[in-house]
Parts: sequence; structure tokens; C-alpha cells
Amino acid sequence: MQSDKLVEHGKFIVAAIDFGTTYSGYAYCKHADYNKNPPIIKCNTWIEGETLTSKAPTCVLFKPDQKLHSFGHEAIKNYYDNPDKLQLNKYYYFEYFKMMLYEQKDLTTETYLEESIKEEDVKKRKKMKAVDVFGAVIGYFRDQLLGAIKNSGEHWFTEKDVMWVITVPAIWDLRAKQFMRESAKKAEIAHDQLMLALEPEAASIHCRRVPVGVQTEGDGRKIIAAMAPGAKFIVLDQGGGTTDIAVHEVTGVNTLKEVHQACGGHWGGITVNKQFYNFLEEIFGKDVINSIKETNPSAFYSLLRNFENKKTSFKKEDEGEPEGQVTLRLPVDWTDTFKAIKSLSLAEAVEKTNFKGRVKVNKDKFRIKNDLFRTFYDYSLENVIRELEKLIAKKELKGVKTLLVVGGHSASTVLTEALKTKFKNIGMVIPKDPGLAVLKGAVMFGFEPGTITSRVARFTYGIGTTRPFREGDPESKKIIVDGVEKCKDVFDKHIEIGQVLEVGEDKYLEEHEYVPLYKDQTSVNFNFYDTLNKSPKYVTDDGCRRIGSLHFQLTDGMTGKRSMALKINNSGTELVSLITEIATKKQSTGYFRLPSESN
Ligand SMILES: Nc1ncnc2c1ncn2[C@@H]1O[C@H](COP(=O)(O)OP(=O)(O)OP(=O)(O)O)[C@@H](O)[C@H]1O
Ligand SMILES: [Mg+2]
Repeated sequence: MQSDKLVEHGKFIVAAIDFGTTYSGYAYCKHADYNKNPPIIKCNTWIEGETLTSKAPTCVLFKPDQKLHSFGHEAIKNYYDNPDKLQLNKYYYFEYFKMMLYEQKDLTTETYLEESIKEEDVKKRKKMKAVDVFGAVIGYFRDQLLGAIKNSGEHWFTEKDVMWVITVPAIWDLRAKQFMRESAKKAEIAHDQLMLALEPEAASIHCRRVPVGVQTEGDGRKIIAAMAPGAKFIVLDQGGGTTDIAVHEVTGVNTLKEVHQACGGHWGGITVNKQFYNFLEEIFGKDVINSIKETNPSAFYSLLRNFENKKTSFKKEDEGEPEGQVTLRLPVDWTDTFKAIKSLSLAEAVEKTNFKGRVKVNKDKFRIKNDLFRTFYDYSLENVIRELEKLIAKKELKGVKTLLVVGGHSASTVLTEALKTKFKNIGMVIPKDPGLAVLKGAVMFGFEPGTITSRVARFTYGIGTTRPFREGDPESKKIIVDGVEKCKDVFDKHIEIGQVLEVGEDKYLEEHEYVPLYKDQTSVNFNFYDTLNKSPKYVTDDGCRRIGSLHFQLTDGMTGKRSMALKINNSGTELVSLITEIATKKQSTGYFRLPSESN
């Protein structure tokens, strides 16, 4: 195992943060421990009641001054049970907020995040800047990690010795990834001490390195660690929010390449809870639920928590017994509030709904027949299966016989059995603790970022530019500059969707020449776009999105031949760009900025 690259940089510790949609965790490893077989990676443990867990719910509570009050189980307890009688109407509570990064179409560092338990009146809803929420949580992990490393007896180390790794879904666009970097900056993590790890890649790296704990089914061929060069496998990271799918080919003992661009969607485990919530709304009505949320948040949360527990113990075998049932404990407030608002007992009301015979209420017992309970998984299962079917049919996937299933939701046999039934010719590999593969793999990626040797572009990327007007260009794009007819809004393509990008700091793509518009310009901003279209003509074409800009400082006055050559490298998990001023050969690196009102 080579991990010299990091030693060269003087980082003897890698600390990783798996910032999950539903659960988050952190881990670290010292260089000496990394070289052991298997590496000794220390994950934090959290206490919830009497159990220890390796990840905590991604929930955070902020004080009225917007400083972090508590995180994880603590935040949930403080918010829903409020044992300390905090004036919660002045506090800010956010749960499962990573979803917002892909839901928000115009994400910038100015974007606000609304509190999770929302006031009916939109004007009364409290908001915080999203980058401050993410930044505070990363800062919390950072402090916890530094404390844990110090407490492990390492008094010699300084923050400069740490390489930080934060995980992000592979299907995120550049904008969401950049947003994570901006958040880390808020948490005072230095840019050159931070790497982003793509979640399915991290899981692959972990399963290549650690054969123990990997279930083999039938023949050893399916052990990821034992796969020989040329073998390909699909990685399905079925987390809480995202379904992140990658396809990897083994290229050496310690290297992998991506053979198809990452795909997937937002069909993780939380959608099962969402389906249950929709069902509750049908049974109780939004008015009853809102009233409970407001007057007794503890009772509200208790039912949702109970559902989460039942969900994680619901098995494929339960499906075979449609007459069997799942019993949830219904806090008395649910039945009392229902009766007070609807003037009817809940038990009687249920008999009048479409759920008659499949749902029964008896005092504090809320019984749901197995076949109805199973339908809560439908949305997630149908989408995941459809996506995998589409993927497996592609030519690049020919000969792929192995599916590596990771992420917390893969602990569900409802999911894994459905996959086994659907994809009979594909062998499945599930690590023992599928929810931790990403976190541990992220630490490994921090030591060996070169493990992934090439990636496949998920989008077509380009710069918005102006060029001489040509026949066929729309009149609406015509502008006159210095008496010459020009065409504006041209999409100048740098990367095409599906293009193979060799990984490496020096792996820049072909240069494109541009001329700054004004003679006295001291800096230049290129508008950067993405699209799923292979050959867009104009940046205004359907599907083109401005995802940010590339900012460069120019030599004072930039005289002589004023053109400059721009090249980019998007093979890593960060967009890197470089311009060369043609006349002086002077080079400067660009800074990728999220769109904001000021640029
Ligand atoms: N045995 C189980 N059965 C069903 N679901 C499970 C089980 N164990 C965990 N889950 C679900 O897995 C999800 C958490 O998985 P994980 O920790 O990988 O997600 P995450 O990292 O929070 O999300 P993402 O990676 O999408 O940001 C939760 O929705 C949880 O309910
Ligand atoms: Mg995850």
C-alpha cells in the first residue's frame, strides 16, 4: 500500500467526516495505523439511551445568537423533549438538511435554510444562512475530532498535520460540492488541507482493502478485495437521502477506474419515512398533525422515532405474511388531539378510510398490516430498480456480475431481497456494517487519493463566451463590438458528458483561447455552465445551468497580445483551472465561485 503522497505533504493524520442526510459520523487514522493490515481506523461512538452507535442523526440546534447549541441525539432531545425548558421559539432547529443541497435550484452562499419544523405562517419561519448551518456542523465535527486525537495521547500533533476529508454524493453537481468547500472554509479548515471524497468511491476503496466483513455469496469471485484487474462491479450506496451508483473496474492491486458516470437519485431510506408520513396525513389530517407538533412535539417525535425502529427491524420474511402486522406505540396525545379536532374516535375514523381492515387502533397500539407497511418502501425500491436496469443494459456494463451494496439502507432485507429477485444473474456483496463503509473508505481515500485513476464526466461543461456572428446564429444573439458583429451566449464546450477524465494534478484538458472584453481589465470572470446535453450551442439552451464562475487575476494592464488560454482539470473531486496570458506566458490558477448576486 502506498501512502507516500500524504507523507510528502506532511499530513500524518487523516480525519474524515461523513456528512450524511440522516446520520453523520467521523473517524480518523494515523499514518502508522494505516499501514497495518487491516488499517486501524477509529470511528467515534455516540450514546443513545443505552445503545452505542457509530453515527448520529444529522440534526442540529442553534441558540438565538445562531451559535451551535447541540448536535445529534442531544439536539433531538433538546428540541422535542426540551428538558432544560429552553425558549425554543427563539432557537433554530434543522434536521436532515443535506437534502436541501440538491433540492435548491439556485444554491449560493447566500441561500437561506428554513427551520425544519415549520410555522404555518411563512413570515414567522426562522431561517439561517445554509452555509453557516453546514459550516457550524463541520466545525463541531472538527473540534470533536481534534479533541479525540489529542485524547488518544498524541500531544505532538498540530492541526497542520491533519488532512481533512468530507464525503459528498457522487451524483452531486459541482455547485453542491463547492458549497461544501465553502462551508468547510467557515469551519476554518484550510483549502489545501481538505479533500472531498465521493461516497461510492470511498465505499469501493474500503471494500477493496478490507476483505474481512464482506459477505461472499457462493464463489469467492464476489469478494471485492480479491477481484483481479479487468473485473468490474457496480457500487450501490443506498443511504438515507441519496441513491448513489458508480461502476468501477479494477486496474491494479490498489487502483480502480470509473467506467460509467455516477447515476442515481434521491431515493434513500428517508423516502420510506416520508411515505409513512404521507400515510399519517391521510389518516389523521394535516390539522391534527400540526396541532400535535405544536403542542406536544415530544409525542409527535415519539411516533416517528418508533416508526424508524420498526422500519429497521422489518424483514423480507414479514412480507410473506401479509396478515402479520407491525405494531407502533401511539402516544395518547395523537388519539386525544384527533378526537378533540374531529369529534370522532380515531379507531372509528380509521374504519371509514380506505385503510379499513389494514390499520387498527386499540388504545395506544397502532397496528399496520405487513402488506401496507411494505408499500412504504415502494417509491425507493421502484426507482432504484429502474435505475439499475437502465444502467445494466448499457454496453459499458457488459460482463458486470457483481453488485456491491453499501449505505445504511442496505441493511434492509426488503431492499436486498428485492434486488436479488430482480437481478438474478448478478451476485451481491454487502459489507457487515454497510453504513460505515463510506466513512472508513473516506479515511483511506485521504491517504491514497490516487486510488481512482480515471472518472467519467457526469455533465457537459463549458464557458459562456462571445465569438464572431455566423450564418445560422439567431438574430437575438447578435451584438456589435467595436463595429464588428458578434454572437453572445455561445456555449464553449470544455468537457463532454461521458468523457473519460484521467485523474492527476497535471491532467488538464485542451486549452481554449479567450480575449478579455476591456483593455484595462485586471481580473476576469468566466461564467461556467453544465448541461446533460452532449453538444449545446448556446448557454441559454434548455437544460444549461450557470453553476458558477471561474475567477482569475490578470497581469496589470495585460499589454501586447491580450489573449489568454484557459484549461481546466475536472478529474478530481474539485474543479481546477489555469490561464496562461499568451504574451507573457504568465500563469494563474482560477478560483471557482458559486453564483451569487455580486457575480
Ligand atoms: N435495517 C435497516 N432497514 C432499513 N433501513 C435502514 C436499516 N438500517 C439503517 N437504515 C436506514 O438507512 C439510512 C441511513 O443510511 P446512511 O447512514 O448510509 O445514510 P446517510 O449517510 O445519512 O445518507 P446519504 O448518504 O444519502 O447522505 C436511514 O434512512 C435509515 O433509516
Ligand atoms: Mg451516506
